[in-house]
Amino acid sequence: MKTRLFALALAASLISACPLPVVATEQIHSLRGADINASEAESEAFRREKDRAPIPRDFVQQPPLVPHTVQGYSITLNFNKCMDCHSWTRYKETGATKVSLTHFKTREGQELSNISPRRYFCMQCHIPQTDAKPLVANNFKRADGLK
Ligand code: HEC
Ligand code: HEC
Repeated sequence: MKTRLFALALAASLISACPLPVVATEQIHSLRGADINASEAESEAFRREKDRAPIPRDFVQQPPLVPHTVQGYSITLNFNKCMDCHSWTRYKETGATKVSLTHFKTREGQELSNISPRRYFCMQCHIPQTDAKPLVANNFKRADGLK
């Protein structure tokens, strides 16, 4: 009885020590070392789409969708995997589209010699594709200029 109580107490303290949901995640830190309450693990709920040819755009100003998987393509303070293929110095040998000229401009319109910090995190705008269904129905139609 005593050991059973002890086991129960132990279980209870373990449960309260690790709040649910208990998912094996790697702790992410900000550049300044603060903990960030987020999981780096990609959602397993959706299947990534296979690599394919560039996806037609629906309006001319649209950030093109990413037509290939981006698994393991990390972006850190010193290295941007996307630019490994999409930069103006690499695109010819990799066959990737070179980043847009607009990506070298600051918000104020000043031209820079390298990718603008506001364009550094590519996937803020360029979205990799999965088989996820749209959350809400919509009847969006391609812009007239691209019909
Ligand atoms: C190993 C090389 C490589 C890496 C790394 C890479 N790409 Fe690509 N990317 C390509 C190639 C090749 C294409 C297809 C070009 C074509 O077929 O016209 C492409 C196409 C694209 C397109 C579509 C362009 C268009 O005009 O429709 C986008 C957007 C894109 N990539 C974004 C990214 C992002 C964001 C990352 C980083 C997360 C990334 N890529 C990393 C090689 C790469
Ligand atoms: C703030 C949003 C934003 C971010 C961040 C961003 N892009 Fe873009 N990107 C766009 C938009 C919008 C377009 C289409 C209009 C244009 O060319 O500016 C575009 C166009 C492109 C194109 C197509 C160029 C062409 O000639 O058709 C490529 C390739 C591309 N981006 C790659 C990247 C890569 C790689 C990064 C990260 C280093 C990145 N982008 C970051 C918004 C963004």
